[in-house]
Amino acid sequence: MEDELMRIGVSIPSRLLSAFDQVINRRGYSSRSEAIRDAIRGYLLDYESLGQTEGEQIGVITLVYNHEQRGLISLLTDIQHENASIITSTIHIHLDTTNCLEIDVVRGSSTEITGFAEKMMVQSGVFQVRMFVIPALSLASAEKIKHNSINVGYSDRSPD
Ligand code: NI
Repeated sequence: MEDELMRIGVSIPSRLLSAFDQVINRRGYSSRSEAIRDAIRGYLLDYESLGQTEGEQIGVITLVYNHEQRGLISLLTDIQHENASIITSTIHIHLDTTNCLEIDVVRGSSTEITGFAEKMMVQSGVFQVRMFVIPALSLASAEKIKHNSINVGYSDRSPD
C-alpha cells in the first residue's frame, strides 16, 4: 500500500539550503523532496543503529558549535558535568572567531553515550554532533589475542 504523502513547511537558513542543493545536484537528484526524504531515512537509520549496541562502549563524540550563542557555553558545561562519569577526556579547538570544535572521549553504555550526545545535539548554536562508538569488549579481546600470541612465543622457546 502506498504511504500517504504529507506536505510540511520547514524554515532552513539559506546557506544551509544552498549547500544541500549543491550536494543533491552533484549526486543527481531530480527533486529536492526526494533528497530530503532520503536524508530523513538516513537520520532514522543512524538513530536505530546507535540503540542496538549492548555492553560497555568506548567512543568519541565531536561537536561543532557557535560559542557566541547566548547561554550555550554554560548549558554545555552543565550537560558535561552531569555526564562526568562517562567522559574520559575533552579536547577543545577554537576553529575561528566564533566556532568551536569539541571532542569528548567517552566510556559507558550506549544509552548513556547517546543520551549525552543527544542532549548537546538539540541545543541551538550546536551545528553538528558526530559519534564514533565501538564495544569496549572488542578492545579487550584484541588485548587477549595479543597476550595469547606472546604466550605462544614463550612456549616455543621453552625447553622440553
Ligand atoms: Ni573555542
